[in-house]
Amino acid sequence: MNIYIENLKEADCACDALILPFTEGNPGLYDNLSPSVAKLSKKLFSKEFHGKQNEVLIVPAPENIKPERILLIGLGKKNEISPEKVRQAGGKSAVTLRNAGMKKIALSSRFLSSLGISPAYFVEGSLLGLYTFKKYLKEKDNKTIDSIVVLSKTSKGLQEDLQWRKTAASSVNFARDLINTPANDMTPSHLASTALSLKRKNLSVKVLGKKDVRKLGMGSFLSVAQGSHEPLKFIILEYKGSKAAPIVIVGKSITFDSGGISLKPPDGMEKMKYDMAGGAAVLSIVKAISEMKLPVNLIGILPATENLPGGSATKPGDIVRAMNGKTIEIISTDAEGRMTLADAIAFAKRYKPKAIIDIATLTGACSIAFGNGAIAMMGNNRELIDKMKKSGNDTHERVWEMPLFEEYKEYIKGDVSDLKNTGGRSGSLISSAYFLYEFADDTPWVHLDIAGTAWVDKEKPYMPKGASGIGVRLILNLIKELK
Ligand code: BES
Ligand code: MN
Ligand code: ZN
Repeated sequence: MNIYIENLKEADCACDALILPFTEGNPGLYDNLSPSVAKLSKKLFSKEFHGKQNEVLIVPAPENIKPERILLIGLGKKNEISPEKVRQAGGKSAVTLRNAGMKKIALSSRFLSSLGISPAYFVEGSLLGLYTFKKYLKEKDNKTIDSIVVLSKTSKGLQEDLQWRKTAASSVNFARDLINTPANDMTPSHLASTALSLKRKNLSVKVLGKKDVRKLGMGSFLSVAQGSHEPLKFIILEYKGSKAAPIVIVGKSITFDSGGISLKPPDGMEKMKYDMAGGAAVLSIVKAISEMKLPVNLIGILPATENLPGGSATKPGDIVRAMNGKTIEIISTDAEGRMTLADAIAFAKRYKPKAIIDIATLTGACSIAFGNGAIAMMGNNRELIDKMKKSGNDTHERVWEMPLFEEYKEYIKGDVSDLKNTGGRSGSLISSAYFLYEFADDTPWVHLDIAGTAWVDKEKPYMPKGASGIGVRLILNLIKELK
């Protein structure tokens, strides 16, 4: 896909479709573009188009201008416009035009610019919306958009903004590919070789196997992997863009979660291939940061394994010892994510990081509480939490903070061990985070539970069905602002 800025008048841009964003009840926005366009929009606004949010209409363009067609896209009420609405308009427009067989499309940015909103948001929404996952289809249609032209004066600011959003969107799509890939192909080994393929001058990748993690004392992570024939992989990516203390991001990377001996009910179990969405986000974030060569020190960690009920699987009641010495009684083998993250977080502390961020499809309770409306967040550091909230609002990957009151420690306090891996269903969104807190301890840390948001059942303007790739833009934006 080609994306470029062209300093051209709309009427002079030869393309399959010219996109004109409108607000509700304002047909006159493009009157000085050409009298024929002014006449056309006035006519359409009296009947077939109103400018409501995400309303679209494709019409043949007037003869005297170069674009073949015009796509009118609604932004809703003028005083309610936001970057997010523009992102959605970008997704809705691009998908509509792709489905209509268009190849070269152009965006008029004069109205957005007059509002001080970068057209890069529109392009971001387009790139996210156009994502498809066709790898496993025998017959693929060739409906694709080849180029998006942003009609605007060029400026360094716009060019940089476009570049950033392009990189961010393609990293989201990279994560979506990994997550959508079924677990028979997306094994821990496959995740590891994907990570190794990202190696470059400024990015080193190490993959530890069973023997290595045993030596490190990761009894908690090991206990999850022992029921599967697929070898576990502990993946470490190190990007050194500065000499400052690193930020470590840890992603839950269960390539399939059957629940183990505490087997899940069969209904919907096929979706548990997305239990590595956190790990996919981490890979994508490190990839993007190393491509953009940001001046930060960033470590990505993926403790990757399947969670299966084999003959040597962990049994409820088993007690294991994690890398930090704490013992854990496994009440449910389905509370496996925290077992893998516990050792990964303990390992992360070796880097003396300035922050640890973990991202995980950790609890069903998260999705019960928030649906797909928000990421649940808990942490031990106010500054980090507040920055995450801000990044959530900026990217519209919004987070909502839940309390980590000391009282929740009771939930996971063991009877015959230091900890138990679940405190039961009640309060499990928070007690699962409290469990991780026992490993992060006093290192600034924030936990993101994306169980409700990582999968899209009902498509939205820039969220096709399937993996959402959530967390990638959120954390990328946070890191960019932290630096
Ligand atoms: N991967 C699941 C959580 C999950 C559920 C993610 C639904 C996405 C959609 C996790 O490993 C799990 O099974 N959690 C259990 C924990 C319980 C046994 C304490 C849960 O939340 O039910
Ligand atoms: Mn589970
Ligand atoms: Zn899980």
